[in-house]
Amino acid sequence: MEPLERSAPIPDPLAPYLAVDRSQPRHECWVAGHMVAGLDGTASIHGRVGALSTAPDQDLFRRMRQIADVVMVGAQTVRSEGYAPMRLDEDAQTQRRVRGQSEMPPVAVVSRSLDLDWSSQVFAGAPEHARTIVITCAKADPERLAAAEQAATIIIAGEDRVEPAKALQALAGLGYRVVLCEGGPRWLGELVAADRLDELCLSISPMMGGDQLPVSVAPPGTGIAQFALQSTMVADDTLFLRYEAKPPEEGRS
Ligand SMILES: NC(=O)c1ccc[n+]([C@@H]2O[C@H](COP(=O)([O-])OP(=O)(O)OC[C@H]3O[C@@H](n4cnc5c(N)ncnc54)[C@H](OP(=O)(O)O)[C@@H]3O)[C@@H](O)[C@H]2O)c1
Repeated sequence: MEPLERSAPIPDPLAPYLAVDRSQPRHECWVAGHMVAGLDGTASIHGRVGALSTAPDQDLFRRMRQIADVVMVGAQTVRSEGYAPMRLDEDAQTQRRVRGQSEMPPVAVVSRSLDLDWSSQVFAGAPEHARTIVITCAKADPERLAAAEQAATIIIAGEDRVEPAKALQALAGLGYRVVLCEGGPRWLGELVAADRLDELCLSISPMMGGDQLPVSVAPPGTGIAQFALQSTMVADDTLFLRYEAKPPEEGRS
């Protein structure tokens, strides 16, 4: 064991995340999860994440979208958190252009039920160049699908459920190579079960007593995925851990 010593402050906490080479994904896309957990592993407080996220975490969470070609999120998180199109400051947009990315990543919402409010900001407020994407399955309700098509770009990725690999293949086909998954735990668990989580940026918030919802809810029968710690940062009492998936022969059981 070795202590993680505090050292000189990092001028820009996003810099270590921007420096990661995500150009060689193990599969279709590089998938980075960004989540916050309490000390007891909880992923929400009274059904929302806001109270769990400290000021430095919120700041990093917003800015992290700069790394993404697309920001992927489960439908329940959209329903409970009231998602809106991504916003990045001028500087971040310029840096994205230099890196060959679009100015703004679109949001991609995963849903089977398509029980979503098409007049909400995340759909109605999205600019044409970053139109929100809905990833659903062939057995989605046809009427709801027709409504979804008016509000979003549709990807069908599976028969009666969205299959992570198919969803990511479709996103890669549209040129989205770096996928930032902002949860929620159930959709993240699907990605873990399909061995599609390449990176996890996990903030540990100095709180306990939230909902009984862990950061990842993998479907029954999912094997154990293992990760290697790549970097750590601390701001006040919040820890920022960055992990990458270990190769399958090392990391899966
Ligand atoms: N701690 C954090 O960092 C963090 C991050 C995000 C969210 N949260 C919290 O987590 C909670 C929501 O998370 P959650 O785990 O309940 O939900 P979620 O993962 O956000 O969304 C689950 C929904 O996604 C869709 N979905 C998931 N897998 C699917 C599949 N294979 N095929 C088709 N659709 C699929 C379904 O939508 P339909 O029901 O529409 O079919 C499902 O109900 C909220 O309380 C939120 O505040 C915490």
